[in-house]
Order: sequence, then C-alpha cells, then structure tokens
Amino acid sequence: MSRHALDELGLGPIWIRREQLAALAFDTSDADTNEAIEAAEVIAAPAPAPASAQIPTPKPARPSNKAPVIVLPDARTRAAPAKIETSQDDARSREIATLDWDVLEEKIRACTACGLCEGRIQAVPGVGDRTARLLIIGEAPGAEEDKQGEPFVGAAGKLLDNMLAAIGEKRGDGVYIANVLKCRPPGNRNPQPAEVAECAPFLARQIALIQPTVIFAVGRFAIQALLKTDAPISALRGKVHRHGEIPVVISYHPAYLLRNLPDKAKAWQDLLLLADQLTEHPRK
Ligand code: URA
Repeated sequence: MSRHALDELGLGPIWIRREQLAALAFDTSDADTNEAIEAAEVIAAPAPAPASAQIPTPKPARPSNKAPVIVLPDARTRAAPAKIETSQDDARSREIATLDWDVLEEKIRACTACGLCEGRIQAVPGVGDRTARLLIIGEAPGAEEDKQGEPFVGAAGKLLDNMLAAIGEKRGDGVYIANVLKCRPPGNRNPQPAEVAECAPFLARQIALIQPTVIFAVGRFAIQALLKTDAPISALRGKVHRHGEIPVVISYHPAYLLRNLPDKAKAWQDLLLLADQLTEHPRK
C-alpha cells in the first residue's frame, strides 16, 4: 500500500511499526519513510492520548512478563468445543461440517438459505491461504465485494490491507479473510440474526478447515459471532479472547475506523496485540 494511495483515500499517513522498519532495513533517509515513522508516532500517540496508547520504541511491543489477560468464553460456550452457533443443529449444518474446501465454496456460492441470495450479484466465500495461521473475520460483503467476489476490496479493505502491512502481514500470504455473512445485505444494512444463523455453518467449517493459530475479528458482528457476547468493543478490546482453543484478538471494523480516525490509535494497539499473538502462536 503506497502512501499515495492512502492519501487519496483520505486516510492520512501509513501505519508501520518502528521496529519493523528497522528490521526491514529501510533507508531512513528516505523522506517517505521518515514521514511514515512520524506518522506511526502520531497515530499511536495523538496529542491527548494516554501513555498506554504510545508505540513502544525498539523494545518488544509487550513486555514478556506481562501476558495479556485471557478472557474465557462464557459458561455456555466453555462447556462446548469451538462452535459457531447455528440456527439449528440440522442436517444442513451437519453436512456442511463435512465438506472439503471446493465443495464448501460451491455450496456458499449456490446458497439460498436466506433472502440475501435474491439481491446479491454473487456470494463471497472468502479469500486467501487455506492453511493460513491468521484468519480475519469481518461482517459482510459490501457493494464492491459483491461485484468482485472478494472480501474487503473497497475502501475498508484498503485500510485493512494497510493495517496488515503495518504488522508485516499480507492478504493471501498466511492470511485468510472471511466474513460472517457471505452475501451482501441490501443497502449495507446490519446483518440480521436469522441471516447470521444460516451462514454460521459456513464460517464454522472455514475455521475448522483452516485451523488458524490466531483469529482477528473486526467489528461487532464478527465479535458477537465468535465470542457470543453483546459487550461493546470498547469493553472487550485489549485482551485476548478464545474461540475454543484459538486465541481471538478483536478490534474496530475498518469501515468504522474510516469514519472515526481518532480510534485508529486504539486499533494500532490491537494490531500490536495481534502481532504478539502471531509470534506466540506460530504455525506448527
Ligand atoms: N466489510 C466487511 O465486513 N467485509 C467485507 O468484505 C467488506 C467490508
């Protein structure tokens, strides 16, 4: 993601980790890179931000003796293994739970389980590395995704790519991107509970096939689908959650960040936590 592209989007400066810049041996005499370093500082520590919002300088993002708080799922989900709740434990769900990748994608593309199939151009199963260690889960396709058949290809997707780049990750390279809903809700309205329930077996199967070592859930619908909580993002972020055994880091949805630039500082903190988790949980 070039700085120029971000400016065009009105997103301001590129996000990049200071230590990552050093590791990549960027030429720090380069004007753009220097601006990027400054930008990282600005984003991580805007004027009135608390000290905790500042980017740690070359030392590790999180002191190793301070493990992130692990929030266990509530009693309802703790009793069961990792399971996305479906509308019913019916034959359809059980069949989806057995599908291989190709048949799963065919089923998603042909799905008529809810009314969203009527307004879609195409279903959007997901994109990326089927053996990814990082699974990113968003909400639902928007207009551009509906056209192109790939998640996060609009403005929010550009920001997501940029966020990934800031921690050295890249769409398709050890990363898989999926949504809670595979079809676009009309007018980009919020997903409805029945739609989430019908799509849930697809997401559950994607998680089971990928077996990611870390999940990054962005936005309230992804968080609710995975963690079964209505708690606000502000109350949940900054901790590592679990979906079954899989660590889950949460953050604001990139589309929300496009409208609420000050919260990018918090999202940066979330990305640092995600990067820590990826280091702690490498692909075996
Ligand atoms: N927002 C999402 O949650 N997913 C997409 O694929 C695009 C925008």
